[in-house]
Amino acid sequence: MTRTPSPEAVPPPKIPPSPEAVPSLEVTGLAYAYPDGHQALFGVDLTVAPGERVALLGPNGAGKTTLVLHLNGILSGGVGSVAVAGLAVEKRNLAEIRRRVGIVFQDPDDQLFMPTVREDVAFGPAAAGLRGAELAQRVQEALEQVGMAGFADRPPHHLSFGQRRRVAVATVLAMRPEILVLDEPSSNLDPASRRELAEILRSLDVTVLMVTHDLPYALELCSRSVVLSEGVIAADGRTQDLLCDDALMRAHRLELPFGFDPRSVTVA
Ligand SMILES: Nc1ncnc2c1ncn2[C@@H]1O[C@H](COP(=O)(O)OP(=O)(O)OP(=O)(O)O)[C@@H](O)[C@H]1O
Ligand SMILES: [Mg+2]
Repeated sequence: MTRTPSPEAVPPPKIPPSPEAVPSLEVTGLAYAYPDGHQALFGVDLTVAPGERVALLGPNGAGKTTLVLHLNGILSGGVGSVAVAGLAVEKRNLAEIRRRVGIVFQDPDDQLFMPTVREDVAFGPAAAGLRGAELAQRVQEALEQVGMAGFADRPPHHLSFGQRRRVAVATVLAMRPEILVLDEPSSNLDPASRRELAEILRSLDVTVLMVTHDLPYALELCSRSVVLSEGVIAADGRTQDLLCDDALMRAHRLELPFGFDPRSVTVA
């Protein structure tokens, strides 16, 4: 005798999620202690949709860099999970993850290690298989984007901090990542370079997570902000709303520059 399952027992058909439904970044319950025992993250949940630009705010020592270093598996071994475009950040996926996620480190000296600027910017695309004229073109474009094309043959360690930061941004742009993570990108940039970097970020069709203490920059570039404080997400909302919340700002040591009124800024 054949048994007909009751309607309740029939599993719903598996519909594959549409690409837009898969978050660019999905961090779930992430907790992490450094090998010396210092715990920096205490259960972080963060979802970023494709194409979103999100600012990650928070005081010194909040865990921002620690979180960023989990996004392409530089740090691992804690509790919880991280996925990038639906791909779990774990050893077997790291090559693919690192192609998709470009991280501009807080310290450009962690990013630049070749004898010349050109070789540093070529390093990633060459490792991904680009050669010859295509590679040269990719390097040239990335250096032009950050206004450093005239420095291609210089050793990175002879450049100023701001110039090294711009080259560090170029090394990541040259990879054309889907997700761009920048750890304090505007620090040490002169006002023109800061504005030019904002224009680059706005022009790219990528997901951006930007750690910054530069709150006007966050307001200008990111409609959404997340506040990380003492290793947990303390707030997540519209950047303008968060910056206008005096109690929240004080509680997490966030301060606006003298004379800056976030209410007076018209944002998209
Ligand atoms: N390698 C390490 N070993 C042990 N503790 C560390 C290490 N790196 C960072 N920490 C600690 O982890 C906590 C979070 O540091 P993290 O660098 O993530 O802060 P942050 O939010 O990026 O701060 P900042 O705004 O100063 O860049 C801090 O208390 C810090 O002292
Ligand atoms: Mg940091």
